[in-house]
Amino acid sequence: SPPSTCPFSLFSLLPLLPFSPLHLLFKMYQAQSNQPAWAGNKMRSEGLDDMTLLASVNVEKILENLNVRFQRDLIYTNIGDVLISMNPFQLIQGLYEDHVIAEYCGKSRLELPPHIYAIAESAYRSMMVDKENQCIIISGESGAGKTEAAKKIMHYIASVSGGGSEIEKIKAVILGSNPLLESFGNAKTLRNNNSSRFGKYFEIKFNQSGDPDGGTITNYLLEKSRIVHQIQGERNFHVFYQFTGYASQADKQAYGIQGPQQFKYVAAGNCMRVDGIDDGQEYADNRQAMSTIGITGQQQTDIFAIVAAICWVGNTTFREQGGHAQVQDQTVVDFVASLLGVPGAQLKAAYEIRTMETKRGARRGTTYKVPLNNVQASAS
Ligand SMILES: Nc1ncnc2c1ncn2[C@@H]1O[C@H](COP(=O)(O)OP(=O)(O)OP(=O)(O)O)[C@@H](O)[C@H]1O
Ligand SMILES: [Mg+2]
Repeated sequence: SPPSTCPFSLFSLLPLLPFSPLHLLFKMYQAQSNQPAWAGNKMRSEGLDDMTLLASVNVEKILENLNVRFQRDLIYTNIGDVLISMNPFQLIQGLYEDHVIAEYCGKSRLELPPHIYAIAESAYRSMMVDKENQCIIISGESGAGKTEAAKKIMHYIASVSGGGSEIEKIKAVILGSNPLLESFGNAKTLRNNNSSRFGKYFEIKFNQSGDPDGGTITNYLLEKSRIVHQIQGERNFHVFYQFTGYASQADKQAYGIQGPQQFKYVAAGNCMRVDGIDDGQEYADNRQAMSTIGITGQQQTDIFAIVAAICWVGNTTFREQGGHAQVQDQTVVDFVASLLGVPGAQLKAAYEIRTMETKRGARRGTTYKVPLNNVQASAS
């Protein structure tokens, strides 16, 4: 179970302070000798865990050091205050267990091997001691492990901060929001089976005792084009496969769903299932997370009605008469309209006709209705 208390000594906090004796000692040691006596042996065995200690700094030496460490499952390496994390693409036994959290809790970055927990600890402790906001920036190419790293940090903070029923509720919301956001914003790409297709700025707010008492998630740049098209081997956002594959029988009947392969927007990439992703389980977890977060039953129904409507919008087809597109099956349009709560005739017109309006200065001018051809109607 996660540690309930987090004892930390003044000594272990010293290195966090900019002018602590230990910090100075460390820096002085570096200045006197570029390569400490033990570094030769250590370099051969497991590489250097802080690359500011490299005798000569060039791309080759850096890669060599990282490679030596990676071969030994040492995926974390420091460069001063910066942590390099290499994606092992497999679970490394014992790396993230609760006793490891307990070991890093209250320690300085210099006391223990590099770890994502050391970064989380350093930020959390600096916030508590210096009473200053902290920011952890995670960057890297697609599939580098940013999302997993962010989750580890949140898990660490949730474990080392205080308890109580209200706090536990907030922690559950913070941790539960993640899988939910991923189901609506992550997708399988050729590079990453769980690629985040949006940017996320996650703020956790703490009370004076260091317990989380709220948070804000700001999302930006969602890859909306993925909703209507995916290349071969990629998928739409996970939620489409969760819902079309694993909605309750009642929902499937209400929304006319037989499976993901039935919908053009969902099946375009020809990839219904992904190794390591259990869409059924994730759908169940998401419905649970929605309730935890406070999304009411009615709101959930509305959200999935929109998901169903998007699926059916993709199945709307047109026939062309005299260069003008016309909806082929009005029942599909009427069904989408009912799901979205708009009149069917209006939705049909939105597909088939573009309305243009001229303006004279600030005054409204004449309105033209331009019929669309097949391609334009499909795009609209
Ligand atoms: N520390 C880790 N240990 C084990 N496996 C990991 C670790 N970090 C990442 N992975 C694996 O790599 C996959 C990709 O990682 P992740 O989704 O975090 O990448 P990302 O940097 O967020 O990519 P994107 O920019 O595409 O969202 C994960 O689904 C997981 O399988
Ligand atoms: Mg990601």
